[in-house]
Amino acid sequence: MSARIEALLKRMTLAEKLGQLSMSAAHDAITGPTEAHDLAQAVRQGTVGSLLNLTGRERTRALQRLAVEESRLRIPLLIGLDVLHGYRTLFPIPLAEAGAFDEALWERTAREAAIEAAADGIALTFAPMLDVARDPRWGRIAESPGEDPWLAARYARAKVRGFQGAELAAADAIAACAKHFCAYGAVCAGRDYAPVDVSERTLHEVHLPAFAAAVEAGVASIMPAFVDVAGVPMTAHRRLLRGWLRDEQGFDGVLISDYHAIAELLRHGVAADLAAAATLALKAGVDIDMMSPAYREGLPVALERGHVTMDEIDAAVRRVLTLKERLGLFDDPYRRGAAPEDAGAIARRRRLAREIATRSVVLLKNARAALPLGAAVRRLCVLGPLADAAAEMGGCWAAAGRREASVSLLEGLRAALPQAELRHAAGVAIDGDDRRGIAAAVALCAGADAILLCLGEAAEMSGEAASRACPELPGEQRALAEAVLEQARANDTPVIAILFSGRPLIVPWLAERADALLAAWFPGTEAGHALADLLTGRVSPSGRTPVTWPRAVGQIPIFFGQRPSGRPADANDRYTSRYLDVPNEPLFPFGHGLGYGRFEYSNLRVTPAIVGARDTIRVCVDLANTGAHAAEETVFLFVRHEVARVARPLLELKGYARIALEPGARGTAQLSLPAAELRYPGPDLVPVFEPGAVEILVGPCADRARLLVGGVRLRA
Ligand code: BGC
Repeated sequence: MSARIEALLKRMTLAEKLGQLSMSAAHDAITGPTEAHDLAQAVRQGTVGSLLNLTGRERTRALQRLAVEESRLRIPLLIGLDVLHGYRTLFPIPLAEAGAFDEALWERTAREAAIEAAADGIALTFAPMLDVARDPRWGRIAESPGEDPWLAARYARAKVRGFQGAELAAADAIAACAKHFCAYGAVCAGRDYAPVDVSERTLHEVHLPAFAAAVEAGVASIMPAFVDVAGVPMTAHRRLLRGWLRDEQGFDGVLISDYHAIAELLRHGVAADLAAAATLALKAGVDIDMMSPAYREGLPVALERGHVTMDEIDAAVRRVLTLKERLGLFDDPYRRGAAPEDAGAIARRRRLAREIATRSVVLLKNARAALPLGAAVRRLCVLGPLADAAAEMGGCWAAAGRREASVSLLEGLRAALPQAELRHAAGVAIDGDDRRGIAAAVALCAGADAILLCLGEAAEMSGEAASRACPELPGEQRALAEAVLEQARANDTPVIAILFSGRPLIVPWLAERADALLAAWFPGTEAGHALADLLTGRVSPSGRTPVTWPRAVGQIPIFFGQRPSGRPADANDRYTSRYLDVPNEPLFPFGHGLGYGRFEYSNLRVTPAIVGARDTIRVCVDLANTGAHAAEETVFLFVRHEVARVARPLLELKGYARIALEPGARGTAQLSLPAAELRYPGPDLVPVFEPGAVEILVGPCADRARLLVGGVRLRA
């Protein structure tokens, strides 16, 4: 207990207390209803305690000054923003960054984003987003670390460490807010804000682990999701918020509602008025009401009705003030944003943006050695609506990002290949039905050494409120691609397709017909330079897809961690678990990604053969790079309990390692797996370490046919 906070609490009026529990938007990106009040006046009166969507050193400072110099109690403001993948300097979207499979890098990008945001006076980010997402129709898959719960937990720890740094009070640290708690990724049919209905087991195995990891890493705040889970809106979910998060996991930080979510409890049909909505949220443990009048207007009524107590309100206020204190805001409210950054810091950040972008792009296919482009390349055709689309490169949550500062692929190629002739035409727009530019684009292909076909989505086609029932190439891009592919085949010119998107796109025809295919996702500020590094072979691609790519919409949700069927698919037996019209197999499995090397795996060793819960399993596998280029391989470790009381997934990710090898070189990848990680939620969801055989599978992706198989036996 802090004496300062207790003294303040004694002096606060009810309106001032509710002010500390209310967060208002200043300006900029708006994702819901806005408020009419005079913000400056509200800050002076102490009826707003935190802000979102405010950027710029001068503006954050000006409002902070009103709070600490002109309000009665001089309580500093908490200023938050969605800094998902960079503040001004944009790193790749989270889904892309997850594919780097590199905790140190994830932490570094979060650290840099925090430093840059803090230099502008920001003290809180609504990140990391930890929704496990297995449905590419859902646009917010772009903000997530992908489909795997184990990976999401790793990512959670790295991001919390990165944003918060070693000391939350430091001038360059910002509070993280893990979101959206929980299971938002499982919205019905991939439609944003739609209901969620998942089993308790799926909650515990898939959706909760990343939040447990964030709490363990000391995350300062958590945001409940907009959605309901099995009929109970998360904003009012007492059992999960108070029960699981606070009581079981010991989370004592601040719970911040999502935008307008408390007032939306009325539309969910669980509260009749604002007072009832505010009561539900407060009782569930939500401390801050973001962008709704529920706490400000509803809690006084709820108090009068005797539905909430002043002690409950005080407990929430205490948590908010404690966060402000931990952030050092009482001691020096201007410590963040004290001085503009120097040019060196900005340049260093851009170098990191280029590095992480090269590490995130996934080479999905590379036939006929189409890539890397040879040193002799003279004439390149750079076609498609995403070829010179700098403003799209930042992706969907480029909060304060300087979109105009991003480098398009065409610009990156110009810088990397100054002697080459680059012919460019968009051919078609990203969306719309105008095909008139196709013929001219095709005409450019004659005599080209290679064609780069840059296709995909606009940045705003993924992210929040951007669900797509048919996540394919929008507009007339397929028509452009087919015309180009036809022409290229006639001239025997290699076609390299580069996809920009916030989700896996359904493009089986393109994957079959293009010589090479890259998932660039949205690579951020340094997009063009990073892609040029990869295309020219300066760097070998090493990104892996953190999400399965479907070949048809009807396969969704598709993910590698499925449970077995009693009738596994068998092409020769009709009465098995399969489709009549498409294969069960995805277009690309989780973890897939090529480089310019060629890796062969052999000699898997798993020791010891029998382990107890406290032992560590050592896994080694030999690799040889039989390709012609130096490259880095990501080696995945999966497990499978052969027989258990509850059917276990066909594959569970439990580790990865990276190994870089020169052409012709051999090496050994070593992984260690604490046997305790083989615990799983037993029949009553209490974690069990169940004796029996566990397969240990090692290889380049979640395709069982490509994995080496060993095993261990668990003993009680
Ligand atoms: C989103 C959150 C975000 C908030 C504030 C909401 O619409 O769901 O993820 O943090 O807006 O920008």
